[in-house]
Amino acid sequence: MSRTDATPEHTKLFINDEWLDSVSGKTFECINPATEEKICDVAEANEEDVNKAVQVAAAAFKRNSPWRKMDASARGKIMMKAADIIEQKASFIAKLNMLDTGKTLNECVASVHGAVVVFRYYAGLADKLGGKTIPSDGDFFTYTRAEPIGVCGVIIPWNFPITLCSWKLGPALACGNTVVLKPSELTPLAALCITAAFAEAGLPKGVLNVVNGFGPVAGAALASHPLVRKVSFTGSVVTGKKILEMAAKDTLKKVTLELGGKSPFVLFPDCDLETASTICHNNVMFNNGQVCCAGTRNYVHADIYDEFVAKSVSCAKARKVGDPTDEGNQAGALISEPQMKKVLAYIEKGKAEGAKLECGGERIGDKGFFVQPTVFSGVTDDMTIAKEEIFGPVQSILKFTDMEDVLDRCNNTEYGLAAAVFTKDMDRALYMAHNLEAGMTWVNCPNISSQTPFGGVKGSGFGRELGEDAMKEFSHLKAVSIKVSSKNS
Ligand code: NAI
Ligand code: MG
Repeated sequence: MSRTDATPEHTKLFINDEWLDSVSGKTFECINPATEEKICDVAEANEEDVNKAVQVAAAAFKRNSPWRKMDASARGKIMMKAADIIEQKASFIAKLNMLDTGKTLNECVASVHGAVVVFRYYAGLADKLGGKTIPSDGDFFTYTRAEPIGVCGVIIPWNFPITLCSWKLGPALACGNTVVLKPSELTPLAALCITAAFAEAGLPKGVLNVVNGFGPVAGAALASHPLVRKVSFTGSVVTGKKILEMAAKDTLKKVTLELGGKSPFVLFPDCDLETASTICHNNVMFNNGQVCCAGTRNYVHADIYDEFVAKSVSCAKARKVGDPTDEGNQAGALISEPQMKKVLAYIEKGKAEGAKLECGGERIGDKGFFVQPTVFSGVTDDMTIAKEEIFGPVQSILKFTDMEDVLDRCNNTEYGLAAAVFTKDMDRALYMAHNLEAGMTWVNCPNISSQTPFGGVKGSGFGRELGEDAMKEFSHLKAVSIKVSSKNS
């Protein structure tokens, strides 16, 4: 049997190339959000387990360890092989991810293949992280080199357990770091399969470790551990701020934070309304709206407002939500009961504050956490649904008439992850793209690719994932200066 075949071991901690029970022997339940049934019990890490994993990762990073001595191209080769194994196991990993997340099988298959693309991209980059030669004043030969940071604590959320594994493990490993990964307690399974694939591909012992467990215990132990040198986090603003504090408490750690958003999508009258409205619908409803960069504020020009609302409503009504195993469904369940209740409470708030509920707004059925695709028109900037991250299938449509005014309204938020503009006027498109306060601005599209930096400004966090820029986040730049002597002896 290969290491990535499903076995009960895949519910344990993975430390130093071994599947382990937690020190306390405790486990927690992994629930299928589409059925509310238990899938399995998973080993629950506490501070002791996290300490064990970090010690192992620190040992694997020691100066003459196999991982440190390995050529960068050899690191890339292992990563390439891991990507091949993940691809071969795509169907199994996707099914597991479907059970764990409530997403449709189609979405899960796409997640696995997307992760394979990202792992291959970083496998290829492993031996291409060069430095510069610097014309420094004086008689010196000065150059820079990128060096790995050390033990990276990687904490990921539940909305994209496979995708975010690849976004973080890809550059972390390509740069030559060692990793302790803590997946979300709501989606503990997929990361274990991905890690098993890396072990099978020949990653040296201790380089990649996984500790499932709860945020305030396992996550906090990782973010504050003195031997962790870098923390890469994706999740809520509240937790992100705690992570930043913890990362500075004992030893000082390099940190990247990706904390979601309230991304404005602006539609001008000259846009291709049919295409733009379909894009806006798909974007805000994808993964049931549990997407950090979702376009959750649609600012639509008054001249096309009513037509856009009508199109959005017909898209939402036609959207099929239900059993994730049914290929005809475009969306499955939300992640958990609290998340569903939170989304329904936001919908109630939208109604109470005077937005017009055009369609949806209710839970579907009474088993599983399904919510109807929901559209609000008449939304104004002061309403809670226009200000806070809902993380559910809720489209909020606002009206504007003036470009400068809408720019100010778009930017009047603590968030700054993504923004989009829909227009055929390229002058206007560029003006908007350059003046929207966001880490990513899109014109007539949303676009995320392995080559393109992804990340936010302001309260959406800092640091970049994907692209070559992520390699900078997972490495240090060292400057070396050598005195050039004229003495000939
Ligand atoms: P969260 O930010 O609390 O959880 C994300 C990760 O952080 C999980 O692995 C969790 O175990 C860990 N964590 C939680 N508390 C921690 C702590 N004190 N120290 C270290 N790690 C900790 O997000 P949660 O509670 O699952 O979702 C709440 C809301 O956050 C959602 O409704 C959504 O609005 C937002 N969110 C945003 C995400 C994004 O992609 N930016 C992803 C997930 C949630
Ligand atoms: Mg689950």
